[in-house]
Amino acid sequence: MPKLVWLNGQVMPLESAVTTVADHAHLYGDGLFEGIRIYNHRVWKLDEHLDRLYHGIKFLGYEMKQSVTELRAILLDVCKQADISDGYIRLNVTRGTGLGLDPKGIDRTPNVMIMVSTLALYPPSAYDLGLDVITSSIRVIPSDALDPRLKCIGRYAANILAKQEGNRMGAGEALMLNYQGQIAECTGDNIFLIEKGVVRTPHPSCGILRGVTRDTVIQMAKDAGYTVEETILTTFDVFSADEAFLTGTAAEVIPMVTLDAKKIGTGTPGPITKEIMSIFRTQTTTTGVEF
Ligand SMILES: Cc1ncc(COP(=O)(O)O)c(C=O)c1O
Repeated sequence: MPKLVWLNGQVMPLESAVTTVADHAHLYGDGLFEGIRIYNHRVWKLDEHLDRLYHGIKFLGYEMKQSVTELRAILLDVCKQADISDGYIRLNVTRGTGLGLDPKGIDRTPNVMIMVSTLALYPPSAYDLGLDVITSSIRVIPSDALDPRLKCIGRYAANILAKQEGNRMGAGEALMLNYQGQIAECTGDNIFLIEKGVVRTPHPSCGILRGVTRDTVIQMAKDAGYTVEETILTTFDVFSADEAFLTGTAAEVIPMVTLDAKKIGTGTPGPITKEIMSIFRTQTTTTGVEF
């Protein structure tokens, strides 16, 4: 499978795809991105990812040249050229090119990149055994500084620090709280808890990225007959939960079995987690946009 990149209109192998050093995301983190999965020759939740991207583009005032329909067609064409059955697409849009953080002074033609590649975030064993997670000392960026609905490149410095903290502790993930001490999310995933058969996840106002996978899993859980609560949660709720799992495009659905070395429930992946993982796997391989 060739790893292909579409960069500002040109398709090329990943190794030869280079962009300008004066790109505004390279200089200031002024860019947006989406990570999107390909399952079984279909792009999973493509329109949901494009929706989030174009809301961000509008909010940040990027002067995007391609309409959502045009970009969608380009992306599907690159997938076709890559001829990939299962993989990971990275879609980046930056404000433009030029030194100085004032957008007035730069070439505001967005740099657009679509990379079709592969990604395995966690080893396969982590999906069977579950992840050990620590509570990070790094808080999520408050939403009055940077709205978490923006999947903005610059925001990820905080998440990378939290991830490094997790690595130092030998954990698979790090849980980030908001400034009120409420649970927000992990470094690249949303969190779900299950207590007495009720599926609970932080409300979007807790400072989370409203994950496409999160929204999908909420619907799957409801369709499977579970009550789902989007609410305020603290670490107390983690320790009183029977089960926990994380969701994300890269992570998919993965059990979380400890927090700060304390077991959640039995300390093994729970039955409702396994049921949702199985529903997720079935849906990902049977639905999506064909290319
Ligand atoms: C901080 C953060 N939270 C949650 C998620 C999960 O979002 P999605 O399901 O849309 O991939 C991501 C994914 O990249 C993320 O970076």
